[in-house]
Parts: sequence; C-alpha cells; structure tokens
Amino acid sequence: MNFELASMSLGLMADDATDLLLVLVPDGFKPGRDRLSRLIGEAMKSQALETKAGKLLSAWRAPGVAAERLVLAGAGDMSAVQVRTAVVAAMALVKSAAGRRLTIGFAGPCTGGAMRAAVQAVADGSYVYTTTKSKPEGRKLHDVVIAVADDTLSEPFRQATALVAGIEWAKEWANRPANHATPRQLAEAAQSLAKGKIECTVLGPKQVAKLGMGSFLAVAQGSQEPLRFIELRYDGAAKGEPPVVLVGKGITFDTGGISIKPAPEMDEMKFDMCGAASVLGVFRTLSELKPKINVVGLIPACENMPGGKAVKPGDVVTSMSGQTIEILNTDAEGRLVLCDALAYAARFKPRAVVDIATLTGACVIALGGVRSGLFSSSDALAAALLTAGESSLDLCWRLPLDDEYAEGLKSPFADVANVAGRAGGAVTAAKFLQRFASGLDWAHLDIAGTAWKGGAAKGATGRPVGLLVDYLLSVEKEQGSRGSIPTKAGRNGRSTGTRSKGGLSI
Ligand code: BES
Ligand code: MN
Ligand code: ZN
Repeated sequence: MNFELASMSLGLMADDATDLLLVLVPDGFKPGRDRLSRLIGEAMKSQALETKAGKLLSAWRAPGVAAERLVLAGAGDMSAVQVRTAVVAAMALVKSAAGRRLTIGFAGPCTGGAMRAAVQAVADGSYVYTTTKSKPEGRKLHDVVIAVADDTLSEPFRQATALVAGIEWAKEWANRPANHATPRQLAEAAQSLAKGKIECTVLGPKQVAKLGMGSFLAVAQGSQEPLRFIELRYDGAAKGEPPVVLVGKGITFDTGGISIKPAPEMDEMKFDMCGAASVLGVFRTLSELKPKINVVGLIPACENMPGGKAVKPGDVVTSMSGQTIEILNTDAEGRLVLCDALAYAARFKPRAVVDIATLTGACVIALGGVRSGLFSSSDALAAALLTAGESSLDLCWRLPLDDEYAEGLKSPFADVANVAGRAGGAVTAAKFLQRFASGLDWAHLDIAGTAWKGGAAKGATGRPVGLLVDYLLSVEKEQGSRGSIPTKAGRNGRSTGTRSKGGLSI
C-alpha cells in the first residue's frame, strides 16, 4: 500500500477527486467558510454527526464534495488513541466501499502520534493475508493520502510508514503456516533484509553445537527440520556504540514435544515464532528509518516436535552458559531456546537485551490480549519500555521478579529445572530466563496474549513491533543528547570514543 502525505485544508479536501474521503472531526469543531466544513458544522448541529470517537456518518456523492464516498468520523479529543478508535470504526465502511484511493483528512490540529495512529489503523484494517491462497484477493486499498493542514509532520509520517512496513513483515511471517515458515525459511527472510546497514549471519546445527548451545539443540532434536540460529546486525551508529540486542523466540511450531499439547487450537502454535517475527519486523523498519543506533537481532529458530529422537521429560542438558537444566516438561521449550540466545547476547557487550517471546499461557490468563507482560531486572529499562508502549499504543505491564518465585525451579538432578508449578507461570518462566541474563541490562516481553488473535479474526497483530521501534528511537534520542554534551576537552562525546554505561567517560 502506498501512503502519501499532503498539505491540504478542508476546502481543498472537498475538491479531491478521491474514491473515499474520511474526515476526522474533533470535539468542538468550528466550521470555516468552505463547503466541507459547513457541511460538517450542519451535521453536528442537527446531531446527525457526533464527535465522540468511533461515531460515523457516511454519504454517497455528497453535494460539493468531489469524492465518491464521504465518511465523517468523530475523533473526540484527537489524541492518538481516539484517532485510532475513529479510523478502526471507519475502516468497516471504507472496506465495504471497495475504492482504491482513500484520503484521510484531519479537521483540526493533529499531532505526530495521532497521524501515526491513523496510518497504522488504515494499514491494519485493510491488511489481507494472501500467501497461501490459490486465488489471492489482496487488499483493495492501494493509495492512502494523509491530508494535514500543516507541513511539520513529515518526520512522524516517515516513521509511521516505516513502522507499518515492519508490522506487515511481522504479520506476514507470523501468519504463514509452519510448513511455509520453517526455520530455514525464516533464515531466508532474515537474509533478504541484509542490505545497506543490515548484515545477517545464519548458523546451522553443527555451529550451534560448537557454541555449546545444548539447551537449544535439545528442543530442536525431535524435528526433521534443521534448526537455524539467526543473527541480524543493524549498524547505524559508530562501531563502539553498544548495541541493543533483541532476542526473538522462533519456535516455528510448538506441538509441546513429548509433553504434547491437546488437539484443540494446536494450529495456533504456528504463531509461536511471533517474537522472531517481531524482530524481523523491527529490522524491516530500521532498514527504512535508518536511525543512528546499533541493534542486534538474535533468533533461535526450530520446531518443537515429539519423535524417536525427541528430548524426554527428565533429560538433563547443558546450556551455553554452562548451567545444566532438567527438562521436566518439553512444552516449556521457549525458555530453553532463549536461554542459549541470552548467553550468546553477552558477547555484544550490549547496552540492553530485550527478549520477545510467546512464552506462557499463564501470561494470557494474567493480562489477556491488551498488554504484553514485561519483566526486567533494570528499573530504567522497564520504564523506557513502558513509556515506549504508551507512546506507540502497544501496551505492556510490568510483572515482578522476586527471588521467591524461583523456588519451584530447583532440581535435584541439575542446576535448574525448566518448569515450576502452575502458580505464577509467567513469572517463573521469567525467573528461569533471568538466570541466563546475569550481568546484562535485560528485559523480557511475554507476548503470548498480544501477538495474535484467535477466533474468527484469527491472525497476527504485528505486536510488539511498535513498542520496540519506539524504544529504539528513545535510545537514539538519548544517545544523541549524550553525544552533544561538550566534554572538558571541548569536543563532543561522540568523537571521544570510550564511553561507559552511565554516560560519557571523559
Ligand atoms: N508457546 C507456549 C505458550 C503459549 C501457550 C502461548 C498458549 C500462547 C498460548 C509455550 O511454549 C508453552 O507451551 N508454555 C507452557 C509452559 C508450561 C509447560 C510450564 C504453558 O504456558 O502452558
Ligand atoms: Mn510449549
Ligand atoms: Zn512455545
């Protein structure tokens, strides 16, 4: 889909010969003298149009309006959330109208966040999965013009379209069935992103064995599909700038292994690589946005299958960190692949490591589909991720990491067991991971409830690409401001080279 930013007043919007014109009308809208705003004013006066977010009024060939179809949508206070509500509601009408070109106009001041919310909601509402359909009927909408009164929104617009491209990548790979998104195919997808500032390295079983990733290998050993360990690097800043490492769980299908899952809804376990898909999506966005930061993406990708070679409950494996693990439940495989990737992450001397995983059913019970679970050993990192969640409307909620939660992970046969009891399952999983992130500024996002929707509207959401991109942009901002602080030598920090975590080392 093609997005365009146009500087257009309501007067000009009326003359836009587009298929669909969607006008977002805020509370207290004051009509000007042009035809369109007079029409809106009259509709409000007669109470045919309410400005509460989500209220709609639509017309076909409205007099004085060049667009074939006009949709007026109440947008409340024009905040990002209310604009999203408005556009989501309007998309039902927009889609049924079958036009190719949509113009979205703001009948009032619009922030960058609100504009981004509109762009995201249009992309989301018109997204159609086609890859494994024999007669693909793609999205009808081709061109979307974002019409705003002022021209200061070009940077937020660039961000919004880059973000949408990343979200759609994440959705595409997450939605593909497991036989069309094998570990090898995920690695190919990652390799196709390796252009410009992005590099990609892919390891196979032999190299992973050499690294000592006994835990990851154990999960993969029941499958005919060879594992892949994917490493993506985005170099947007100086070499010495410590990267943010994103680790995405890439279980391309989770049967549970020998601790096999029940049949109902097992198909949804093709989504067990949504963490990996979100990392791919972030890199897709980075490739377009080109921020001045360094980012590493790590994806341990494999299937979790039962079989003659599969790992068995009670087996003890040695992870890359040297810690031994008693695998009591082969269905708690996500943490087994992540722990080796976390150990590997340390070699980048990262400023932060964030893992993203569809890790526990318990997190779905705790938080449902609204907020992802957030765990972190660092208050500053947790705060940054919470803020990024709010600004991107891709919310998360912090859950605890008290050491008492780790009690149940004790094992008489290994350093740690891979499961504790049923109670606090999302927390005990995070406690397991924490053991492998010691010495790192680490956070864990449990996206089991937010990464996809089940039921009639089954499909990936592309979350938490928005959250992660906003977090990375906040890192860029922080680094930028740090770099501009003059040192005693009168030079800026960027050129002085060595730098410690807390700021400049002078
Ligand atoms: N991929 C699942 C988690 C999951 C389940 C996500 C349902 C979304 C919906 C994970 O590998 C898993 O099976 N976790 C187990 C852990 C348990 C065995 C301790 C779970 O949550 O049941
Ligand atoms: Mn599982
Ligand atoms: Zn899983």
